Amino acid sequence: MVKKNTCVFISGRGSNLKNLINKSRDYNFPIKIALVISNNANALGLLHAKKNNIPYLIINTNKTCFENIVLNEIKKYKISLVCLAGYMKIISKNFIINLKKKMINIHPTLLPKFKGLNTYKRIIDKKEIKTGCTVHFVNEKLDGGKKIIQKSFFISKNDNIKSLQEKTQKLEYKAFPEAIIQIYRYN
Ligand code: GRF
Repeated sequence: MVKKNTCVFISGRGSNLKNLINKSRDYNFPIKIALVISNNANALGLLHAKKNNIPYLIINTNKTCFENIVLNEIKKYKISLVCLAGYMKIISKNFIINLKKKMINIHPTLLPKFKGLNTYKRIIDKKEIKTGCTVHFVNEKLDGGKKIIQKSFFISKNDNIKSLQEKTQKLEYKAFPEAIIQIYRYN
C-alpha cells in the first residue's frame, strides 16, 4: 500500500504522536509520519520523532513566518495530511486556504461542547454526565470543522481532572487512528 505522507503538529507531550507512529508501522495503516513540527523547542513529544528517526522542525517565529516555512516544508515532504495533535496555536484562515491539504485535529471533548482550553475543569464544573473526544477537519472556526469520529464515556462521581484526562486520552488513541482509516477508506 502506498502510504500518505503525514505531518503531525505538536506543542507538548506528544502521546498521540507516539500512538500514531506506532500505528503507522502496521502495513495496512494508510499513513506514514514523514514530518513533525513543533512551535515549542521543549515539547517532550519531539523525543518520539528523534527516537524514530522522523524529521522534525521547531518553528517558533511569528505567525506569518511560521506559516510560510510550514507551507514550504509541506511541499518538500510531499505531505497529504496534516494532523494537529495537541498543537496549542490557532491556525489562521489564510494558512488553511493556502495549505490545500486535509487537516484534522483531535479535541478532548464531545464537540460542539467545550471548545477551546481547560476543558476537563469546565466539564467537571458543569457536572456533565458524559464526555469523550472528537476528531474533526480543521476549518477557520476554532474546533468547528466537520466531525469525523467521536468516542464517549460516562463520567463517574469520583472522576476528577486527572482521571477525566486519562480516560479521554485512552479513547483518543483509538479515535485518531480510526478517523485516519475512515478518511482513506475509499482511496
Ligand atoms: C490531547 O488530549 C488532545 O485532545 C488535545 O491536546 C492533547 C494532546 O496530548 N488537543 P498529547 O500531547 O498527544 O499527549
